[in-house]
Amino acid sequence: MISLGVLVSGGGTNLQAILDAIEKEKLDARVRVVVSNKAGAGGLERAARASVPSVVVDHKAHASREAFDHAVVDTLRAHGVEWVVLAGFMRIVTPVLLSAFPMRVVNIHPALLPSFPGVDAQRQAFEHGVRVTGCTVHLVDSGTDTGPILAQRAVPVLEGDDVESLKARILVAEHALLPEVLQWIAEGRVKVDTGAGRARVRVTVGN
Ligand code: GRF
Repeated sequence: MISLGVLVSGGGTNLQAILDAIEKEKLDARVRVVVSNKAGAGGLERAARASVPSVVVDHKAHASREAFDHAVVDTLRAHGVEWVVLAGFMRIVTPVLLSAFPMRVVNIHPALLPSFPGVDAQRQAFEHGVRVTGCTVHLVDSGTDTGPILAQRAVPVLEGDDVESLKARILVAEHALLPEVLQWIAEGRVKVDTGAGRARVRVTVGN
């Protein structure tokens, strides 16, 4: 059983996928708290429906990204969180959060990193004309979408697709991949070798 803190900014469909996997006993975890930087985020309603405590930490109420992260870390620690999941969280995390949870912050990105990092990755891929895109689950480091990759899932771009239909297809893949990777973590199968140079992740049993 691992204790998760899930950070959201929007609809929270990835949070919902985690909650559903726990409910179906496909993920040996508990979501101890949901933290949103946006009041009114759909993820907060999803937390409430699942009787999961939630806290809004308004980034506009803090003088700096670091001050915001300190408030988030305090909230996560107060709820006994061991692993942090960025699920549709639209803030750049700082070393304040990363040092509090070293190599224990997981992000889901809607593209096959290192291609198309940053925002609106689905549109970037679509407008580039790729035939295959997808999603990536990775550990967060101090860069933007640059941390060690845990898993990826490919998603085809189909005839007649527009950005919205592609986003929807990628989201389905995200909802399958994120809980699966979190279960690998729950089973202790993700080892991070932070030896010399780039942190390497060894997933003893991966996809
Ligand atoms: C998802 O595409 C996720 O990859 C991106 O934000 C989108 C919305 O996520 N980071 P959610 O529905 O709020 O979980």
